[in-house]
Amino acid sequence: MVQKIVIPHSRPTLDGGDAFSVSEVIHSGQIVQGEVVEEFEKKVAKYIGVHGAVATSTGTSALHLSLLAMGVKMGDHIAIPSFVCSALLNVVKYVGAHPVLVDVDPVTYNIDIHDLKKKIKKATRAIILPHQVGLPADIDEVKSLGVPVIEDCAQAIGAVYKGKKAGSFGSLSCFSFYATKVLSTGEGGMVVSDSKSLLKKIRDLREYDNKRSYSVRYNYKMTDIQAAMGISQLKKLNSFLLKRVKIAKRYFSELQGLCILPAISYKDRKHIFFRFLIQIHGSVSKALEFFSDRGVTCMRPVYKPLHKYLHIHGFPGSDAVWSKTISIPIYPSLTDKEICKILDVLKQYLKREA
Ligand SMILES: Cc1ncc(COP(=O)(O)O)c(C=O)c1O
Repeated sequence: MVQKIVIPHSRPTLDGGDAFSVSEVIHSGQIVQGEVVEEFEKKVAKYIGVHGAVATSTGTSALHLSLLAMGVKMGDHIAIPSFVCSALLNVVKYVGAHPVLVDVDPVTYNIDIHDLKKKIKKATRAIILPHQVGLPADIDEVKSLGVPVIEDCAQAIGAVYKGKKAGSFGSLSCFSFYATKVLSTGEGGMVVSDSKSLLKKIRDLREYDNKRSYSVRYNYKMTDIQAAMGISQLKKLNSFLLKRVKIAKRYFSELQGLCILPAISYKDRKHIFFRFLIQIHGSVSKALEFFSDRGVTCMRPVYKPLHKYLHIHGFPGSDAVWSKTISIPIYPSLTDKEICKILDVLKQYLKREA
């Protein structure tokens, strides 16, 4: 039986260097959070251009600790976009706060600033601002509302806004190093900030052992094994980003005129193309089936928008994106042959739609 070759939607970019770094930690016998985590934190803080960083077990735990460190309490309002993964809704619920869903701009996929302005109230304690699919949101506009901002850079490490790295603008900024994120530690996360006091609180909340007095704390630590992989991956980050942009440019030039494509250049920001989204006319589920039957895995950029989970209405931007957008594979380990196949199947699909 001939095995069908399937191109996955995402894939980590790993090599022998990552394996060697991990094996060094294993051979050392010191595998839990220690000096390697500290070194990774320093390197990420330097890369982003902020005072410091605290590594965590996941991007979700980084966001959770950020809300706790900011003193978010039961009943406070936290603004989050509706078109985002459910991790954001979860962390708001973990602290007993009230999620205020905001629509997204169907062109940039980032938070809709007009809807955000309408929804900011006295009770709004923070805005969680993701830079969706690798494109920085309009951070200055959001910050001008005077509410503390937690940047969510889970999809945007290395993205640039007005000459500075995404993650250097928020009161706190969170990253995810999940297996298929731009930089991977398997699972992992990080909070970065210029605020020494917020970082100190997060460091205290992250682990429960050896404390002078009791309060509720967590076990959200990263291991030295993961951090070793993170350091190794960080060395290759620039080449990962160059490869992503190169593939995006190729998609852009070959698909121009055939479908609605993301804007590739912005004057004041650098897109890292964590995802490459295209807009189609027909049914998204049928399109996904068409690609899957031909060995190319495409996905919805967000499995289900949050307002659909919560059964609330009034999110036309989010609905528009959900009903007509698909995410096609884009990652550094895609081979030329795979890119050609993706383009070939896409063109077949778009020809059918025309
Ligand atoms: C924008 C965004 N924020 C947060 C997260 C949560 O990160 P993690 O899966 O590491 O908990 C994700 C995960 O996909 C994400 O896309």
